[in-house]
Amino acid sequence: MTTAENGVTADDIRRIYLEYMTERGHVVIPRAPLIPKDDPTTLFTGSGMQPLLPYLLGAEHPAGRRLADSQTCLRVQDVEEVGDNRHTTFFEMLGNWSLGDYFKEEQIPQVWTFLTEKVGLDPDRIYVSCFSGDPENSIPKDEESAAIWSRLFDEAGVSSAQVDVGTEEHAAAVGTDGARIAFYSKKNWWCRGGKAEDMPVGEPGGPDTEMFYLFPNVEHDTAYGLHCHQNCDCGRFIELGNSVFMEYQKAEVGFEPLPRKNVDYGGGLARIAAAAIDSPDVFRIGLLWPIIEKLQELSGKTYEDETRAMRVIADHLRGATFLAVDGVRPGNKAQGYVMRRLIRRAVRFAFDLGLEENFFPQIIPTIAGIYEEHFPEVAQHATEVERVLVKEEQGFRRTLRKGLKQLNSYRGTTVTGEELFVLYDTYGFPVELSTEEALRKEIALSESWREEFDEQMAAQRARSQQSTTLHP
Ligand code: ALA
Repeated sequence: MTTAENGVTADDIRRIYLEYMTERGHVVIPRAPLIPKDDPTTLFTGSGMQPLLPYLLGAEHPAGRRLADSQTCLRVQDVEEVGDNRHTTFFEMLGNWSLGDYFKEEQIPQVWTFLTEKVGLDPDRIYVSCFSGDPENSIPKDEESAAIWSRLFDEAGVSSAQVDVGTEEHAAAVGTDGARIAFYSKKNWWCRGGKAEDMPVGEPGGPDTEMFYLFPNVEHDTAYGLHCHQNCDCGRFIELGNSVFMEYQKAEVGFEPLPRKNVDYGGGLARIAAAAIDSPDVFRIGLLWPIIEKLQELSGKTYEDETRAMRVIADHLRGATFLAVDGVRPGNKAQGYVMRRLIRRAVRFAFDLGLEENFFPQIIPTIAGIYEEHFPEVAQHATEVERVLVKEEQGFRRTLRKGLKQLNSYRGTTVTGEELFVLYDTYGFPVELSTEEALRKEIALSESWREEFDEQMAAQRARSQQSTTLHP
């Protein structure tokens, strides 16, 4: 199977979504860059709502109260998870917002129509979750959303059974027994950062309802818990998106209502597109598959044999390309460091495929081609992107082989933070890459490697400051 030429593609879905939102009175706004403009609290735009924060807090948006877009996002918290069938660092989030306009009664049927009628997903494979309430903060159970879902499921002639599962741990222990609507506690509270208890005063959040797609042919894996349920990580259910009912704001004590009740919807374009071609593997969709095909062609290896390496390279190079388009350059700090990490990790995995020649120039035009229509800025900046990425690729390649040899020489020993620092300083191995490599090679790390590494880093910074002072 490749991409489904006969089915609806990711490009189609993005277009259909934005047209549908326009029909429903939304103004389509352009994507914001991956680097947030006036928000020093976070390195990257990680959700569609982030650039809209002031408006969710009550400011008037110049384009009105109904907005939609497809926002490019980068989430690097789980870089090591990239390689499974659905996690990517870079992704597009289809978004729609009601800034104090419509609420649950309009949002839930709107998403339902989009998924089932516009994209054509099977209603019988859509499962949802709702918020079970937070009695401590007097936030009620979201019976209202569940009732709307129930009505929609009944109309579609599919079961609307409900179950209350509380925490994810509890859900894994007892299972949801196929219930279509599962009430979870913390999992269905949405705010930036994820946890209600960590929200700074003034931060908006609220209960959400999440949509999942069932892949019945994927067997539940008990490594993820005794029983499967909507939020199980075994890959049988894939989350397609969520509608946040953003009506609260963190107060000194507990929560207070926001001036207006908002809707913040985020849908994973890649995951919806994968569901549309009935593939639990998001790398099979048209936004990623051409990169995999190119990697197969260049390496002479197959995706079936080299799944993880090809997924990592495809994801990381796409992320690094968009970072370069948005003005980031590889470096030792903040966004530049993350970009460097993505590029070097891609080079490391390419080494496993036998791609030891510079191959970025072959991949970047493929990425530019994929986004030609919707994000033409990628093709417009392709030459510059190539220059930036190739420079980083070449720099790291020069020392990669020696660094790997050095790491191999540590087999049978316990690697210290000082040694990790040498790998970083002399061979350009981001520390996360070295520790991942050590894990892969079953090389032990000293218990305090992090502190030891940080000490070396601080000492080096002090030395370089001194030398700047001495030789201005
Ligand atoms: N803001 C919500 C999310 O990022 C839609 O999941």
